Amino acid sequence: MAEESVNWVLMVTAQTPTNIAVIKYWGKRDETLILPVNDSISVTLDPDHLCTTTTVAVSPSFDHDRMWLNAKEISLSGGRFQNCLREIRNCACDFEDKQKGIKIEKKDWEKLHVHIASYNNFPTAAGLASSAAGFACLVFSLAKLMNLREDQSQLSAIARQGSGSACRSLFGGFVKWIMGKDERGSDSLAVQLADEEHWNDLVIIIAVVSSRQKETSSTSGMRESVETSLLLQHRAKEVVPKRIVQMEEAIKNRDFSSFAQLACADSNQFHAVCLDTSPPIFYMNDTSHRIISYVEKWNRSEGSPQVAYTFDAGPNAVMIARNRKVATQLLQRLLFFFPPNPDTDLNSYVLGDKSILHDAG
Ligand code: DP6
Repeated sequence: MAEESVNWVLMVTAQTPTNIAVIKYWGKRDETLILPVNDSISVTLDPDHLCTTTTVAVSPSFDHDRMWLNAKEISLSGGRFQNCLREIRNCACDFEDKQKGIKIEKKDWEKLHVHIASYNNFPTAAGLASSAAGFACLVFSLAKLMNLREDQSQLSAIARQGSGSACRSLFGGFVKWIMGKDERGSDSLAVQLADEEHWNDLVIIIAVVSSRQKETSSTSGMRESVETSLLLQHRAKEVVPKRIVQMEEAIKNRDFSSFAQLACADSNQFHAVCLDTSPPIFYMNDTSHRIISYVEKWNRSEGSPQVAYTFDAGPNAVMIARNRKVATQLLQRLLFFFPPNPDTDLNSYVLGDKSILHDAG
């Protein structure tokens, strides 16, 4: 590092949307490296409504690594943060800005401390995959800051070690997280199946059924399922591999009927695994169940699926309409039958499109 310039600060800001799995990740075969028991497929949302914005800074004047989430300082001591930071520092490259007189050699990154400020524009830990956008954005912005040469898939393998689902938010459009075979995780990474332009008709509506913090985190829920659910074993070995092939085909052909049928079935099986866990885990509530029944009835009355639904580790309903016309109808019907109301716990609706990760720095 150049001695004469110790007062500089280097900064990068990035924005990363969350992603919604249509074939779910549930269960790890390695808890530390975050290696899943099955492949999964997701769609990455538009950053306007559900995204994390992260600014990372490095300076010789910082004396330790620090992080703020939604303006509140949080601890960076957790293994997941440390694993991501270590991996990124390992891959960091030389950096030079002649104008500002800054020169950082690969070995210097070890000694430089980072400050990270992250902001979610949606409820943290309410089943809207905040950790997915959070770790993806953290890894992406640190990789820019430290001049990493790794491609998005290689970065996804680092983000995976922060939170499994985060690896899929490194890409826009439709994304597959390949579980991989290597026990050190080198081949457990995300790949883009189709970009954000591929299936433009789809519109996503999220019913925020509850913005309260969930009782059982995904991490502990899936640990308990791996330990106790026989259905999880069957799902990972027999069901998901076939569904992955069918879902890839449905996405390639923009075949909404197959897409919706697979996404709904997979969400329902994931929640069945939660019920099959001992003690059982209940992520959905009565409002979630009523939304499922309503969408199922509508799809049956139309003769073919118009709307797909999927629920993550919380009661919020993610609905994917086959086009804008259906989305408008869906929103009108939801507002009529499920008006935002404290009695039902339903707070609001969020609209989103598929979109792409972009660098705001
Ligand atoms: C239900 O990625 O939050 O949303 O890897 O332990 O951080 P960790 O879990 P996380 O789990 C997400 C589970 C899910 C399904 C999915 O996104 O595929």
